[in-house]
Amino acid sequence: MEALKIADKTYWVGKVDDRKVPFHRLILERGTTYNSYLLMTEKPTIIDTVDIAFGKEYTDRLSEVIDLSLIEYVVINHVEPDHAGALPSLLAKAKNAKIVSTKLAAELLKDMFKLHQREFIEIKDGDILDIGGKTLKFIETPYLHTEETMITYSVEDQILFPCDIFSTHIANEELFNDLAKGEYIEDFKVYYQLIMSPHRPFVRDMLAKIKDLNIQMIAPSHGYILRENVQKFIDLYDKMSKLPEQGKQKEVTIVYSTMTGNTTKVAQRLAQGLKSAGVETSVFNLKSADLNEVKEKILDSDGVLIGSSTRYGDMVGNVEELLQSIGTEELKGKIGAAFGSYGWSGEAILHIEKYLHKTGASVIDQNYLIGSTGVDSPYLPIRVKFAREDALGNAEDAGRVFAELVLTK
Ligand code: FEO
Repeated sequence: MEALKIADKTYWVGKVDDRKVPFHRLILERGTTYNSYLLMTEKPTIIDTVDIAFGKEYTDRLSEVIDLSLIEYVVINHVEPDHAGALPSLLAKAKNAKIVSTKLAAELLKDMFKLHQREFIEIKDGDILDIGGKTLKFIETPYLHTEETMITYSVEDQILFPCDIFSTHIANEELFNDLAKGEYIEDFKVYYQLIMSPHRPFVRDMLAKIKDLNIQMIAPSHGYILRENVQKFIDLYDKMSKLPEQGKQKEVTIVYSTMTGNTTKVAQRLAQGLKSAGVETSVFNLKSADLNEVKEKILDSDGVLIGSSTRYGDMVGNVEELLQSIGTEELKGKIGAAFGSYGWSGEAILHIEKYLHKTGASVIDQNYLIGSTGVDSPYLPIRVKFAREDALGNAEDAGRVFAELVLTK
């Protein structure tokens, strides 16, 4: 294997894939690369692996560079198979290696690859790891673009390893952006639009977290390693993730019925998320609210979130009465989504979505998310089993994401 040096004791050991690669219902016409990195320190460390299709090839070739039994750590920033796919093959020979990942990633990796017997180091935001001659700092970047994601910063070398973030899908043979033989900036922007843009508020969170880092090089998982004009690429993310100038104050109405109060908790957390994003939010519990007043408020709003607990497979309270009172196409131009707490299967959400579709609103349901972004999303609709705290946290994130949709419409 060619281990290409990118910095002191730091090597690219990845794979260039020049096929037309199917990916999240897209075809990557210009191929891609899977950039894996080897840090040849006193405690040799791998940062991310390659696609599952190349697991054996990767491991065989890596063993020409280093005795795999010497690898101390394998950092997995993101568990999708184009990053973690070669992990089982690598670990079969790197028998002493500990896996370094977020807690959520560790749970996924154990289940995906039957790694329950392996040693994991579970990372929390800001954790540091001494790898013998270099220091790695880890930053959690949830939802960029999946929930378990983190990024890694090599402190002494000032290199950021941001996995999918700052990537480009292009099968570049020339490793660095300053050696690029052709245009790639458009591909960099298209990648952002397809993979990162649906998670825009989290891009802004990530940028705030890396703001004070000195970054001399960005070594992502796909495409060019950015060592020329590094700040330009950070600035591009900053520009592309900014909200457009707002004309009038945007408003969202949240309305729900609840059996035990759990759906109230979901509504409250959705409202927190919306308000934190600067959207004016009104919340109505249909038990005490006037239906006509609620409907009027909905018609004045830019978006509506309608929630219900599920009882005997149906909505509760007078949610259905409210939905029946809204005419066909009456909510055209608005954004809508359903939410609710449930104990068994949560059918109320599907019933609400059916009605919402009739109103002409753009309904943010699973079909919308898969069809419009190319990636599945945990945000919406928000279905919370009873009132589990982690799911309520998701509801707050869902509020922020819904706000983003309203603010950018
Ligand atoms: Fe490069 Fe999220 O896969």
